[in-house]
Amino acid sequence: MPVLENHLETSSFSKIAHAVENFNFSMQPREIGLVISVSTGIATVSGLPNVGFEELLQFQNGLFGIAYNLDEDEVGVILLGKNSLLKAGDEVERTGRVMDIPVGNGLIGRVINPLGQSLDNKGSVHYEKRLPIERPAHAIMNRSAVSVPLQTGIKVIDALIPIGRGQRELILGDRQTGKTAIAIDTILNQHDKNVICIYCAIGQRASAVAKVIANLQEKGAMEYTVVLAAEGNDSPGIKYIAPYAATSIAEYFMEKGKDVLIVYDDLTHHARAYRELSLLLRRPPGREAFPGDIFYIHSRLLERATHLNDKLKGGSITALPIIETEAQNISSYIPTNLISITDGQIYLSPKLFELGVLPAVDVGKSVSRVGGKAQLAAYRSIARLKLEFAQFEELETFARFGTRLDENTGKTIEHGKRIRECLKQEELQQLTASEQILVLLSLKEGLLDSIPIEKIKMAENSLLKNSKTIPSEIQKRIISNEKLSDEDSKMILKFAEEILAPFQEKPNSNHN
Ligand SMILES: Nc1ncnc2c1ncn2[C@@H]1O[C@H](COP(=O)(O)OP(=O)(O)O)[C@@H](O)[C@H]1O
Ligand SMILES: [Mg+2]
Repeated sequence: MPVLENHLETSSFSKIAHAVENFNFSMQPREIGLVISVSTGIATVSGLPNVGFEELLQFQNGLFGIAYNLDEDEVGVILLGKNSLLKAGDEVERTGRVMDIPVGNGLIGRVINPLGQSLDNKGSVHYEKRLPIERPAHAIMNRSAVSVPLQTGIKVIDALIPIGRGQRELILGDRQTGKTAIAIDTILNQHDKNVICIYCAIGQRASAVAKVIANLQEKGAMEYTVVLAAEGNDSPGIKYIAPYAATSIAEYFMEKGKDVLIVYDDLTHHARAYRELSLLLRRPPGREAFPGDIFYIHSRLLERATHLNDKLKGGSITALPIIETEAQNISSYIPTNLISITDGQIYLSPKLFELGVLPAVDVGKSVSRVGGKAQLAAYRSIARLKLEFAQFEELETFARFGTRLDENTGKTIEHGKRIRECLKQEELQQLTASEQILVLLSLKEGLLDSIPIEKIKMAENSLLKNSKTIPSEIQKRIISNEKLSDEDSKMILKFAEEILAPFQEKPNSNHN
């Protein structure tokens, strides 16, 4: 025994002596506060005199929060997680930094939450660095005009309401009108376009998000897509930070010179989460009980989408925010705010949806304010379609009263009906620019006018099936943004005429 004791003594004494010798006395100030009260999604804390606005705070159970209301002797904190474990009297500590999110190439193909944690059982996320979720938008002088199209693969959008890279185009409509479908089609269509996509789900049912992810996986789109999801049952704080976090991920890629497409599905739920937080933090409610800064939370988000100039590597973020209207009321508070912030909107009408006109885009109420300049030049040869369609919609209303129509009006109406038929498109069936031009040019030149309306879809499918017969030089010219020459148009129409011949109504067929 004594031998052992001796041995212990010498070795541990020397260690302790060594430690005492090398001990540097330094004080590390830590600012710790106490929780005063907790309610759904927020907490009030006291005792953090130096806390900064939007500083990240950590509670003793590990939960994080954002300091959001700084009063003289208390701080209102947005909680980033479930508050069930938090109670009055708990300690809370400053972290000295703002909320951030991991960014990097490792995020591509992953499904994460707004805290950067994996939701896809593929282990932790590999990232390059962390970026704050709130970053100032690029200065005006860093930006350049929208000049490259973002093809959605959807005829009615690419031809009539074109979107450019760096544009912000709102998609709005009542529930179940196909808003998500348009956004997903657009993501799927980027498979060969060198565009990184980010789908940010905010406040949707988990089953709806799962369906979107399954679609993206099945079509191979996860190879260039990041999904960031804040589900319906997440705390309002998590839903509130989701789009900002997603945008920081997008900015990482944009600042590397990449083109990025980001979908916010949807900002109605985002506005509601923010309203919930503001009311709980006792901020004064305004119109529809939204707080005074509801416009600002969306404008500062969407201002971050832009096209950078070549000095900054020329990357871009195209934003497709989605808004759900109620009873087709596009003049309520949040939709009008968003309409004024964005560069145009695609309005989906439940009436058209019921009539089976899918995608249910109401062309008259939709607009793209900057995309026209970026549209592929070949679409110029079918620019008249929009006007013809507008005339048709106006005349159609009159025609319903049973008015006798002169020959010309009748023709315009028959032509318009065929335009509507041709603009219909199933979801998940994106078309290339050449395929669209083939159909729409035939349409515009009246090749479909003598085909009975019920055969139009068959005729269109036949055109699409044979679209490879268009000479590849013409197809290349279309994609490389060259105008169609008269010869090109003639050549395309010659092909179309042959393909469409079997569908044409024979004038004297009754007498044969
Ligand atoms: N172009 C389309 N063709 C056929 N079905 C469509 C089309 N667009 C949407 N749908 C269907 O309509 C339903 C509602 O679409 P969804 O995109 O979920 O609506 P929202 O996001 O507006 O609530 C879905 O079942 C979807 O499959
Ligand atoms: Mg949806």
